[in-house]
Amino acid sequence: MSHLRIFALIATACVALMGCSAKEKSELTAAQEAAVAERIAPVGHVVKSGQVVAVASTGGTERSGSDVYGTNCMACHTSGIAGAPMFGDSGAWATRLAQGIETVYSNAINGINGMPARGTCMDCSDDEVIAAINYILDNSK
Ligand code: HEC
Repeated sequence: MSHLRIFALIATACVALMGCSAKEKSELTAAQEAAVAERIAPVGHVVKSGQVVAVASTGGTERSGSDVYGTNCMACHTSGIAGAPMFGDSGAWATRLAQGIETVYSNAINGINGMPARGTCMDCSDDEVIAAINYILDNSK
């Protein structure tokens, strides 16, 4: 199968997923309630050493990692479509991180196999894509 064909299949599947986003959203809200609480908590708390801190947007133009994730990454990374490493799957992400975090960042920014460049967020800055990755990694330990 050509790469183009695979990409078309993935894109179709993602559109199908987004079509029933109401259902997916409610599932995710339940599943991520704890994770969201954890993301909010570090304000004024001691940050554990080694923890990756994504700076939340404070009215500027930069979107937070969770915003970018929810808008652009969730459809593929909560379903594992086309072999996408799943949100929360620490084993899958540990395997990815073995190649070095800079490579993981650049693969997501430039695209690799079924992973489209910037995860389809074409107006995301590199920092916004990286914030989304850090958000996934923080919740996949
Ligand atoms: C169209 C589906 C799709 C979307 C949308 C998507 N991803 Fe992915 N992503 C994948 C797939 C499939 C892989 C596995 C690619 C491979 O290595 O074969 C992947 C892999 C990755 C990786 C691992 C790269 C590596 O070096 O192993 C990261 C990080 C990542 N995605 C981040 C994101 C972020 C951040 C977003 C949103 C901005 C996003 N993805 C949106 C499908 C998607």
